[in-house]
Formats: sequence, C-alpha cells, structure tokens
Amino acid sequence: MTAPTQDLAIAPIADADVASVADLWQRCGLTRPWNDPSGDIAFARRGPNSAVLVGRLDGAIVATVMVGHDGHRGWFYYLAVDPALQGKGFGRVMTQAAEAWLTARGIAKAQLMVRADNDRVRAFYEALGYGEQKRTLFAKWLDGRPLTP
Ligand SMILES: CC(C)(COP(=O)(O)OP(=O)(O)OC[C@H]1O[C@@H](n2cnc3c(N)ncnc32)[C@H](O)[C@@H]1OP(=O)(O)O)[C@@H](O)C(=O)NCCC(=O)NCCS
Repeated sequence: MTAPTQDLAIAPIADADVASVADLWQRCGLTRPWNDPSGDIAFARRGPNSAVLVGRLDGAIVATVMVGHDGHRGWFYYLAVDPALQGKGFGRVMTQAAEAWLTARGIAKAQLMVRADNDRVRAFYEALGYGEQKRTLFAKWLDGRPLTP
C-alpha cells in the first residue's frame, strides 16, 4: 500500500480556496463546459449534506474531494490530486477522509461515477476496495436542455 511520506492537512474548503480548487480541477481534467466549478462549490457548501474537502501540503492546496449524501447513499465527485503529486498515496487519504465524512453521518455505502474514458482511475478505486456495480445511469437536465455526454 502506498503510504504518503507527508501528512495532508484536510479541512472543508474556505472562500479563499475556490480559485485554487477550480484551477486544480482544470489541471486534473475534471471540468466540463456545462459544469461551473465555482457554482458547484457554492452549491455543495450550501447545506449540511455535502462538503468540499481540501488537502494541503505546507499550506498549498494539492488535493480535493466533493462528498455528499442524498439521505440514502453517499457520493464522491471531484476527487483530484495535483498531477505532480499523484501516486504518493494522497488520493487514498482524500478518499478515506470522504468515507469518514459519510460514516459520521450514518451513511453505509459510498458510490461514485467514472467516465468511460477514464480507464486509469479504475485501478485506483479497485486498490481502495471499490468494485464495479452493474447499473445503467439515466439522467435528464431539469431545465429542458439536451443531455450532455
Ligand atoms: C485518481 C487520483 C485521485 C488518484 O490519486 P493518487 O494520489 O494518484 O492515488 P494514490 O497514490 O493514493 O493511489 C492509491 C492506490 O491506487 C493505485 N493506483 C493509483 N493510480 C493507479 C493507476 N493509474 N493504475 C494502477 N493503480 C493505481 C496505487 O497504486 C495505490 O495502490 P496501493 O496503495 O495498493 O499501492 C489521481 O490520479 C487524480 O487526481 N486523477 C485525475 C482526476 C481523476 O480522474 N479523478 C477521479 C474522477 S472519478
């Protein structure tokens, strides 16, 4: 198991972090034209059922995860580690922090979606004990716009 050589300081995102976090998501290839990172962050911070956790090394933001629950299952989004620091165990630590966040709120199962073109992340989640579930995801934009890929 990859054990990080330095401890991440993990805390909920603060106002001053938003631009750095959006930049990290951009560099990790997690942004999509139809998702506004600042809007997504603001929405996740609005209520008690979701949060954006930020991991820092020497004060610099190097990792994130958005975590939340819908009253039944827990979900992860925007799991990201600075490309220069990947493969050092920080992704595992951020996932464990998100799991602990859910467990503390009584949520028994964590779920996440992996884009079909993100093959390399499959091995990461498998290393952390996650397994593929055979489900088909159906989605609809509620403002009537056509479905995005
Ligand atoms: C996915 C991501 C968060 C993983 O973070 P990371 O810090 O590189 O991963 P870790 O070093 O914590 O790896 C944890 C385990 O996964 C394994 N792993 C990670 N990437 C892997 C890969 N590409 N292939 C095989 N195994 C991999 C590691 O070997 C490690 O296993 P071990 O502890 O048994 O040695 C990071 O690569 C990233 O930010 N990717 C871009 C954004 C992204 O795709 N996010 C997920 C969206 S669903």
